[in-house]
Amino acid sequence: MIFERVHAKSYAPYADLPGPSPIFPFGNAMDFIGKSHRPWEVFASYGERFGGKCVAWLFGSPILVLNDADLIGDVLCRRTVDFYKDEPGVALIPVLTRSSPNINNGAEWTRTRTQSPMTQPWIGHWLEAQLSDVRELLEGWFKRMETMTAAQAIPLQAKLQRITFDSFSVGAVGSVLSDKMYEDFMTLASQGSKRMTSLKPKPELGAVGQSTRKRFLNGLGKYYDAASANPNDSPSDLLSLALRHHSRLPREELAAEMGNVFYGGCFSVPSTLVSALYLLSSHPAEAKKVIAAVRDLDDDFDLKALNSCEPLDFALREAMRLLPAVPMFFRRVLATKPTEFAGCRLPADANILICNWRLQRAEPQWPRPMEYRPDRWSGGVANERPLGSDYFFPEGRGPRMCLGAEYSIFFMKLFLATALRRWDIECGKGQNYDAGQTYFFGVRMPMGIKARIRRR
Ligand code: HEM
Repeated sequence: MIFERVHAKSYAPYADLPGPSPIFPFGNAMDFIGKSHRPWEVFASYGERFGGKCVAWLFGSPILVLNDADLIGDVLCRRTVDFYKDEPGVALIPVLTRSSPNINNGAEWTRTRTQSPMTQPWIGHWLEAQLSDVRELLEGWFKRMETMTAAQAIPLQAKLQRITFDSFSVGAVGSVLSDKMYEDFMTLASQGSKRMTSLKPKPELGAVGQSTRKRFLNGLGKYYDAASANPNDSPSDLLSLALRHHSRLPREELAAEMGNVFYGGCFSVPSTLVSALYLLSSHPAEAKKVIAAVRDLDDDFDLKALNSCEPLDFALREAMRLLPAVPMFFRRVLATKPTEFAGCRLPADANILICNWRLQRAEPQWPRPMEYRPDRWSGGVANERPLGSDYFFPEGRGPRMCLGAEYSIFFMKLFLATALRRWDIECGKGQNYDAGQTYFFGVRMPMGIKARIRRR
């Protein structure tokens, strides 16, 4: 075959692995062309056709595609020293700062992860402290959305991005950031997303991007200065708490980390919420159970009550299982050291794709996997298969599991409980969920889905 001959050297290590036949010069790139060929679905379909490990070719570049829970566990949990994470770091370094664990490896990863405010022992206090302020903010948003959707349904993902940004601002710096800060954030996220999906060389940030980044980081720096100038005040936002607990992160890093909360969650959280609301709207009997349970909560429900609300918990888990916002992510073999893995000798820097899309919908672990059945999590299943386990890892697995996992679950539950206690949400009525899906900033986003909201 021509492809094998032309790429003989890079082909050899993968010769024993199954996979779709590569065609010169595209490899398997043609499988990904066209709207109905979403990358995560293509990678999951390889799992169906070729099993838990296979090789696919993007032009002359091989990717080891993993759809096997044990092999993925090796890469993410048991053999982390043999692999590293280059994406999204390479794409995002000029957009963010070096402060995020997401873009670091080795000692810098350990430092940024262990010093991140999100990993500190007081984080539960932070969640509890923002409950009432964020609820009030959300209720204000739902009232406005009721007016906005009185005449017709509106696209939900974009609106939830703004609502999430505002809510995260309250949690991170204690007040809602300006429209300009949101605009700057979206400009930077778009630049980052373009860099994530383009092949090398990646587009430069450019003069406008550079000045936007500077302005955004300066804006966060001002919140740092205000919080550190008033050490005796006792607000409970993330920044103030980190300062009060003597964070070891320097000013630039701690301020930037507040911005990284938005990059981490302002696309993935809305995507998950749109999916959860869409599924509930299309399954009225399930929605009824969740509505009854959240209406049973006391008016001033606390974190414990929110977390103990099983129907809400199960509905959210089931949405994250069936429609994960991040359906695939990447690792590489160390750039300096080839390794024996998956029955072959992988060259240094070999690319690995990790797909959760298929394993979260696999039989026999998930009977009738394509059905939305929140009750499948009852009877101890939620404890047996926690977030980050072999067949349920919408927020990753192992030591690099999502830094914002606890926060994102807290916020999504708070959002759903606040909304469903008082409002009827009609989401995606008559719409095909798949139609408007896009991939932005590493997140699968159901952009086409529209919603209407009415006070019950
Ligand atoms: C539903 C919401 C979210 C989803 C689905 C999600 C998903 C993920 C996934 C799959 C990973 C692992 C990627 C990998 O191993 O390469 C990850 C890592 C990460 N997430 Fe999230 N995430 C969410 C919310 C958040 C939030 C709110 C934050 C902000 C604090 C955040 C910050 C991060 C960071 C910093 C990492 C990298 C951690 C590390 O490498 O040590 N995420 N997330």
